[in-house]
Amino acid sequence: MENWWENAIVYQIYPRSYQDTNGDGVGDLPGIIERLDYLAWLGITAIWISPCYPSPMADFGYDVSDYKDIHPMFGTLADMERLIEEAHKRDLKVILDFVPNHSSHQHPWFIESRSSRDNPKRDWYYWRDPAPDGGPPNNWLAHFGGGSAWELDEKTGQYYLHLFLPEQPDLNWRNPEVQEAMLDVMRFWFDKGIDGFRVDVSYKVMKDPDYRDNPPNPDWKPGMNPFARLIQKYSENQPDNHEFNRWLRQVADEYEDKVLIGEIYLDIPELVTHYGQGDEFHLPFNFHLIRCEWDAAVISDLIEKYEAALPEGAWPNWVLGNHDQHRFATRTGVAQSGVGMMLLLTLRGTPTMYYGEEIGMEDGDIPLDRLVDPAEINAPGLGLGRDPERTPMQWDRSPNAGFSLPDVTPWLPTANNYPLINVAEQQGLPDSMLSFTRQLITFRQQSQALLKGSYRSLEAGDDVVAFIRETENERVAVVLNLGYSPRSWKIPSDLNGEIILSTRMDKETEIFSRQLYLRRHEGVILR
Ligand code: GLC
Ligand code: CA
Repeated sequence: MENWWENAIVYQIYPRSYQDTNGDGVGDLPGIIERLDYLAWLGITAIWISPCYPSPMADFGYDVSDYKDIHPMFGTLADMERLIEEAHKRDLKVILDFVPNHSSHQHPWFIESRSSRDNPKRDWYYWRDPAPDGGPPNNWLAHFGGGSAWELDEKTGQYYLHLFLPEQPDLNWRNPEVQEAMLDVMRFWFDKGIDGFRVDVSYKVMKDPDYRDNPPNPDWKPGMNPFARLIQKYSENQPDNHEFNRWLRQVADEYEDKVLIGEIYLDIPELVTHYGQGDEFHLPFNFHLIRCEWDAAVISDLIEKYEAALPEGAWPNWVLGNHDQHRFATRTGVAQSGVGMMLLLTLRGTPTMYYGEEIGMEDGDIPLDRLVDPAEINAPGLGLGRDPERTPMQWDRSPNAGFSLPDVTPWLPTANNYPLINVAEQQGLPDSMLSFTRQLITFRQQSQALLKGSYRSLEAGDDVVAFIRETENERVAVVLNLGYSPRSWKIPSDLNGEIILSTRMDKETEIFSRQLYLRRHEGVILR
């Protein structure tokens, strides 16, 4: 049988920012339910919802204080059950976020663990004695500010490990009780009918058992992320992380048709090892389009390297943006929005898009007094803050862009361009980014060549990425102009050169004596 996620288009919803229904300025589950018809209309086939569990929100939900419930701010468990049901009615799969590396410091497990050295849950987290000088046990650094990854607990005189905020103590997965409790969380949600998990920083869960110091990063310079001062040699991607991957996979395999997606920021050769022998992640997230320079030669080379590195039987995947990265339209310039979307949806493998990309949403401007992300607050001015890419979804031109009631102050300000860039406006325009995205999705989902075909790169000049996707019965070419000047491209003799779709959504693209004339920022699909 065919795996549904191989034909899926995953759409990430950051629940705080999608749709607020009760006027508290924060998105909620009833809001997502209200928008399911829109998502079905758009044509995406799966939603991944960032954490909506009880949480003190030190990291906006990635600090979970109860893995088996819903934060009242987002709704109730019954709302989640209804969401799953309503999504399934519309043939949309539901993927939830699983945060195994750390809990909140307010989780009852941690409260117990820190209560005394001999508490039965002490070993559920990483507790170590101070170094001989009284300082932290080793030199490991925490994300979001780059201070020590160890926090001293005055009461018991030991340090605990947190690779993220001090409010996010790392769980000790080498303890079988932790394994059991956490794998049980997965079963809890699978039993509720969800279709898979996106696994938060899955590659950091296991740590060097000897807690060796990380080596300095020779390429680090002031002005860079302070966390990157060290190479994370002993605090991520440890050999037995693959064993962790297999534990999760075994639980998923107790059920039918469940997908596991790993959040893994590693270079390609390391990344692809997280497929295992087909017994680890179905989809280790491939973030390389986010990390690479937006340049035709670089991208062609990246695709080649990724395709070549994939192990036998591994299904590829691609991502343009997420809640931790500046938006695609902001990184590359909004004029490239269509080209980026066309690339994402025509490459071989499962695409994951981030809410708002379908309308070309850009980062919002966040005034200093509205900043909330600790990544910015703890290391200001380095461009590390994630608030800009988390601004409210832009639905229409009413105050608050239809995200919340007009007189409410949303948790993050709405981006200024919402009166022009919004769903309602673009639904009415045949050549809008939204109309284009929808048409591209429609074409992709009925094209065997795009869904299943092989990938072969084609000769292309400056600024142009070109490739063929084909099955026995269908052959399509994708030609993308990443540049600011028009380009021409020679149509190979084995293509008849019928234009299926242009990012410009018009019939003006010209072909003359087998040369395709691409306008600037234009992408074209040819049959
Ligand atoms: C992941 C999440 C990010 C979060 C971090 C800690 O990288 O995507 O938003 O802050 O893990 O949980
Ligand atoms: Ca709300």
